[in-house]
Amino acid sequence: MPSPFPSFQSVLERIAAEIEATPGRGRPADYIPVLAEADPRRFGMAVADLDGTVYGVGEWQQPFSTQSITKVFTLALDLSLEGDVLWEHVGREPSGNPFNSLVQLEHEHGIPRNPFINAGALVVTDRLQTLTGDAAGVLRDFLRTESGNPDLGFDMTVADSESAHGDRNAALAHFMASYGNIRNPVPVLLDQYFRQCSIEASCADLARAAGFLARHGTRADGSYLLTRSQAKQVNAVMLTCGTYDAAGDFAYRVGLPGKSGVGGGIIAVVPGRCTLCVWSPGLDERGNSVAGVAALDRFTTLTGLSVF
Ligand code: DON
Repeated sequence: MPSPFPSFQSVLERIAAEIEATPGRGRPADYIPVLAEADPRRFGMAVADLDGTVYGVGEWQQPFSTQSITKVFTLALDLSLEGDVLWEHVGREPSGNPFNSLVQLEHEHGIPRNPFINAGALVVTDRLQTLTGDAAGVLRDFLRTESGNPDLGFDMTVADSESAHGDRNAALAHFMASYGNIRNPVPVLLDQYFRQCSIEASCADLARAAGFLARHGTRADGSYLLTRSQAKQVNAVMLTCGTYDAAGDFAYRVGLPGKSGVGGGIIAVVPGRCTLCVWSPGLDERGNSVAGVAALDRFTTLTGLSVF
């Protein structure tokens, strides 16, 4: 007789105990000064079933700075509105470079490698801004609806802190504008992008909000955000590009589409089964949560749930 499938709750509790016993958690991001204050030993993790039932452990209901995790949602929202035209303006190949790198952009004529490095995310937000007139607001409203949390919103202290140290993103945006790949005034785009990245949400909120990626494009209310094919495409780009120049190692260890943020969060998707979000603010040198990757690695090992 095969052993029964362990409950999500028991798996989460086992993982939390293992993580608690592990020394060494990396360091919080310090290039956005207010994020540098986070305690790297904090930890939370949640799993959402396809019907939105959430299991959690540790600080799974604690809001944190979502940062680059939002890039998944702006990509999905933009694709839902303009479809494949987006791919004329941003690629879908791993960059093999840090998330805020400038080096490939000149060789590739202002077309970023993928929508998850900062340059690519700026292009997506710029296009969503043109399509909606309020990219960050549309994103916030989508996350509120899908998570069921009407209090989820921007943290303007974080947005202002990033804006005050935003020279690199400004450089990326101006450089792409010189190739005609940015349509809004750069200050407007940066304001939208920094507010987008400042959204505070918990592991429970994000695991629920990402549910459409496990449900092949279907939103919480049963309507379609994406076609089945588009949901597959977003998951594929998360797998290959979602953790930047660590995407190969993440795929090797975790075996799931995933997307990290420098606030220490990571979302991951088991298509057809569930979505996960883990948070711990200590990062490795590539900007991914040390305990977060370790916890997802343990989850797929203990449950056998992976895309491979
Ligand atoms: O633009 C930035 O640098 C940040 N707002 C987001 C970067 C980020 O989260 C990269 N993720 N690992």
